[in-house]
Amino acid sequence: MDIVDDVIREKLHSQVVLIRQVSEYIINSGGKRLRPALVILSSGAFSYSGKFHYTLAAIVEFIHTATLLHDDVVDESQLRRNQETANALFGNAASVLVGDFLYSRAFQMMVEVDNMRIMQVLADATNTIAEGEVLQLLNCREPNVTEESYLQVIRFKTAKLFEAASRLGAILGNATREEEDAMALYGMHLGTAFQLIDDILDYSGNNSDIGKNLGDDLAEGKPTLPLIHAMKTGTQQQADIIRKAIQDGGQDGFQPILDVIQQTDALNYARRSAEKETAIAIRSIQFLPESENKKCLLDLADFAVTRNY
Ligand code: IPE
Ligand code: IPE
Ligand code: MG
Ligand code: MG
Repeated sequence: MDIVDDVIREKLHSQVVLIRQVSEYIINSGGKRLRPALVILSSGAFSYSGKFHYTLAAIVEFIHTATLLHDDVVDESQLRRNQETANALFGNAASVLVGDFLYSRAFQMMVEVDNMRIMQVLADATNTIAEGEVLQLLNCREPNVTEESYLQVIRFKTAKLFEAASRLGAILGNATREEEDAMALYGMHLGTAFQLIDDILDYSGNNSDIGKNLGDDLAEGKPTLPLIHAMKTGTQQQADIIRKAIQDGGQDGFQPILDVIQQTDALNYARRSAEKETAIAIRSIQFLPESENKKCLLDLADFAVTRNY
């Protein structure tokens, strides 16, 4: 991972000062580096011994970072990784444009790897993330969103990049198509669990742990699983409270929503959904021979559901 960070730093270079300021600001602010770790571990699980895993790991982190820059503009978020968002500090225009810089830098790096299959996986994943974010935009302030539609959004906007990262390691390691698909399935379910927990933490974490402001999802009128479940299983009166909050972005405050979520056990329901996803992820990679890499992949699946940051 230190080598990945070296590649990231080297590839952030630009002659334009503002690009360096904004990109270094967000890249150096921490971040769990989960997606690059997936590339490294997955390639390691297939005993890959070349150097392209470092490049691909940096590429997926660049794509992730670009989505965050854009996402925080769209979501009007003020806090990420326990510091002001780039949009809060440098403005929306700078965030959007530096996000574009990072996407296109990732494309330049992909070409260096010179493998059509890898380019296909990354091009498809990047495109799907954009579809997920737009689909979510359509769902905002829309209380009739179903659990299925919510799941599609998170598979697209989040799980797809986890899937791609896991698949890329297998491709590098010359896995069979069957093995590659199993790694992709692992990544997809891991990423789904990861976002389910993220959506729970938005109601139950605390700001300094998650490094983001609690209640951002509600303020946007985002129908995430805790709210969908609360509406579905609550009384008419409880459902109306949630419905109205989704429509107006929680203008009556956070506490009434938290109460209904509590009364309908909605966070536990969402947590159980995440645990089911993790269980499938774990099952998908049982075929791997025992190794430190496999062990870490299994640990990551646990972390996705036990994390509080
Ligand atoms: C944040 O992802 C966006 C989501 C998909 C929830 P991470 O939680 O992986 O963000 P960092 O990189 O660790 O900050
Ligand atoms: C993050 O979605 C997914 C992408 C950036 C594609 P969210 O909006 O739920 O994530 P946070 O809460 O801002 O990290
Ligand atoms: Mg957001
Ligand atoms: Mg969120």
